[in-house]
Amino acid sequence: MPDSNSAIRPVRKAVFPVAGLGTRFLPASKSVPKEMLTVVDMPVIQYAVNEAREAGIEHFVFVTGRNKAVIEDHFDLQPELLETLASRNKTEMLEMLARQQPEAGRTSFTRQQAPLGLGHAVWCARDIIGDEPFALLLPDMVMKAPANGTGCLASMMDVYNQTGGNIIAAEQCDSAQVSSYGIVAPGDRAAGGFEIKGMVEKPNPEDAPSNLMINGRYILQPEIFTLLENQATGAGGEIQLTDAMLRLLDAQSFFGYDFKGKTFDCGSKEGFISANVHFALDNEEIGPMVRQLLTSALAQ
Ligand code: G1P
Repeated sequence: MPDSNSAIRPVRKAVFPVAGLGTRFLPASKSVPKEMLTVVDMPVIQYAVNEAREAGIEHFVFVTGRNKAVIEDHFDLQPELLETLASRNKTEMLEMLARQQPEAGRTSFTRQQAPLGLGHAVWCARDIIGDEPFALLLPDMVMKAPANGTGCLASMMDVYNQTGGNIIAAEQCDSAQVSSYGIVAPGDRAAGGFEIKGMVEKPNPEDAPSNLMINGRYILQPEIFTLLENQATGAGGEIQLTDAMLRLLDAQSFFGYDFKGKTFDCGSKEGFISANVHFALDNEEIGPMVRQLLTSALAQ
């Protein structure tokens, strides 16, 4: 397997796995995909797509499942809506929608067909990605950029343009949480992060090599697809991306990018509520009012 560090190829496409059933959000997720639940006024999936666009991604690949068709509708044009807004002179709304609208021919949708794990979901995108590096964003993880304002994937792209290879964003988690995430074993430090020496999916706390969790943003080389093709099942009886990345580590470099912003795990109720509170407090229009509401609710 070639070490792709020798030639740094541009990352043009991003994969968004959105096939999960979202059972933790029943009954809300019965007919509304959990990725369409809103943090303030934007669906969870749109946060990840905006982050990818900011990082220069040109083509958005969604790995979906049954009952997720509304995600495809969300990224299509809605002519009646646009005409109505135009006739009412709602210029700001039209501009906001235009900023978030992928260009025609720049989205692809494929179906995972069966819930066999994240590794299998990523593998389902292999034909659409082809032989080029790609970004992977797990939309449940909604990220707030650090003080410099640069999103997680855009910062990872800066690192990638220097180092090539594979990049995984990582951040500290509580020791009690390591069994919920992929955990990396850090090696030597370098600007912006560290070399990755190993990784393990959902370890028992006593076996975890660190408390640096994989936070849901990756830049991967296409050789991962060959490994996913024959990846045995791992943690939870699922085909795990982390297991295939560990095998790729034998042939290629992995760099751990230290994400300094804030990540909300919107796959859990607490994370979802926390994201809503933080983004609402930051919102220019409603922030001050929400602060008052929270203060008075807490005083009761
Ligand atoms: C997946 C990955 C895991 C990562 C996590 C981030 O797990 O397998 O390595 O830490 O996403 O959200 P999942 O949340 O699908 O169980």
